[in-house]
Amino acid sequence: AVERSLVLIKPDALRRGLLGEILGRFERKGLVIEALELRTMDAELADQHYAEHVDKAFYPPLKEFMTSGPLAALVLSGDEVIAVVREMIGSTDGRKAAAGTIRGDLSLSNRENLVHASDGPDSAKHELALWFPNL
Ligand code: CMP
Repeated sequence: AVERSLVLIKPDALRRGLLGEILGRFERKGLVIEALELRTMDAELADQHYAEHVDKAFYPPLKEFMTSGPLAALVLSGDEVIAVVREMIGSTDGRKAAAGTIRGDLSLSNRENLVHASDGPDSAKHELALWFPNL
């Protein structure tokens, strides 16, 4: 079924000049870009977006990183897009992500891992409402 996913191309990707490379992969896959905005996450949005992680030890440096500069927020749609995008970005740790995935090919970090994508229908709903309330 056709779904929507909230995808963030993180500040490390923009600093490294990888926005076009990453967007291009989603385009070539045939996904539809329904919204695309350059945004800078503030502390409040970070806490809402990462509500399930705020108490974890890795959260303070993650928050610092995610608020460190502009990111690209996008809404992608397509058949089973939530699972398709998760497959394309690879597992969290860039050192372990499979070759051929975005993180596997382009990241060597488990924090600065280039892309975030909703991990299921519930998080997609929450994240889409948070980032694109008018869509
Ligand atoms: P993301 O898909 O945005 O969701 C949670 C983020 O937390 C994850 O990508 C990583 O950037 C970060 N993260 C998850 N686990 C760790 C960890 N063990 N150490 C550092 N960062 C992590």
